[in-house]
Amino acid sequence: MHAAPRSLALVGLGAVGRRLAQRWQRAGIAVHAWAPSVPSRDRARAEGVSVAEDLASALTPAQAVVLCVGVAELAEAAESVARALPPLSADREPACLHTSGSLGPGVLAPLARLGCPTGTLHPLAAFAPDGAGPRLDGTWCAISGDERARAAASSLVAALGARTLLLDERETAPATYHAAAALLSNGTVALASLAFELAGHACRDREDARLAFQALLRATVDNLETRTPERALTGPVSRGDAATVRAHLGGLAGDPQTRALYLALSRRMLVLAERDGRLDAHSVHELERLLAP
Ligand SMILES: NC(=O)c1ccc[n+]([C@@H]2O[C@H](COP(=O)([O-])OP(=O)(O)OC[C@H]3O[C@@H](n4cnc5c(N)ncnc54)[C@H](OP(=O)(O)O)[C@@H]3O)[C@@H](O)[C@H]2O)c1
Repeated sequence: MHAAPRSLALVGLGAVGRRLAQRWQRAGIAVHAWAPSVPSRDRARAEGVSVAEDLASALTPAQAVVLCVGVAELAEAAESVARALPPLSADREPACLHTSGSLGPGVLAPLARLGCPTGTLHPLAAFAPDGAGPRLDGTWCAISGDERARAAASSLVAALGARTLLLDERETAPATYHAAAALLSNGTVALASLAFELAGHACRDREDARLAFQALLRATVDNLETRTPERALTGPVSRGDAATVRAHLGGLAGDPQTRALYLALSRRMLVLAERDGRLDAHSVHELERLLAP
């Protein structure tokens, strides 16, 4: 493991930038942060982040640069950093990283052209705009890029107390990885909200229904902590119980969107149950017919 850079320029002081700056400062790294708007800089200063007067001052001492900027503004931010970066020398070639999960290092091309190692460091965590931000110790950060950028990224991840998840080199890898993260994290929230609503309609007390279904969600996540999805799966599809699945579909007849979602997820459940060798050929055939799109 390489030593973390002693001096870091951090560009972008939104939900992610402010929290990463704080954690890296706590780890003993000299952070020089900057964002275009005065309110963002003032807010970060008030939260204890060391903010530079301008972009060039943030970049001058930097051994690494991290751009915590939204996807739509990232290319423009990379151009600004490339313009403001002091000339590189043999002993000063700062690794430049960005925190967007869906993009590869290619968006940092203006910095690569100057000779900077380029890569990505995506914290696999949810940063709400307010509050202290997520715990990062024990979480993972996906990284990619050339060898020197990956070395810098891994050392910065370690300084957060997080673990490194190395992305594949294929160009499509970041979008695929990020779709998986969105499906799991954001998709679970969407699915939970739908289930809470359905249960609320079927129970006398909506709040009790929400609490009961939250407990079910926790138990399901607990099962996934210790078992593969194939082993963690429970419910009628896993038992080959076509009659219950038919009853569920009848109950959802007036709600075509939820019914379509139920069918799509149940087809995946069938794959898991088959992989686990739980179902006989007759049950599989019956469920396949019932769950056909
Ligand atoms: N939120 C999450 O949970 C999360 C998790 C992992 C990764 N990410 C990724 O991290 C990145 C930042 O996310 P965020 O939630 O922190 O976004 P955000 O709250 O919208 O903050 C974006 C920051 O970028 C700055 N910025 C905009 N245009 C710029 C430019 N041309 N040059 C320099 N700085 C510029 C903004 O400055 P001003 O404030 O001055 O306008 C702002 O401080 C995104 O790529 C996001 O996909 C987000």
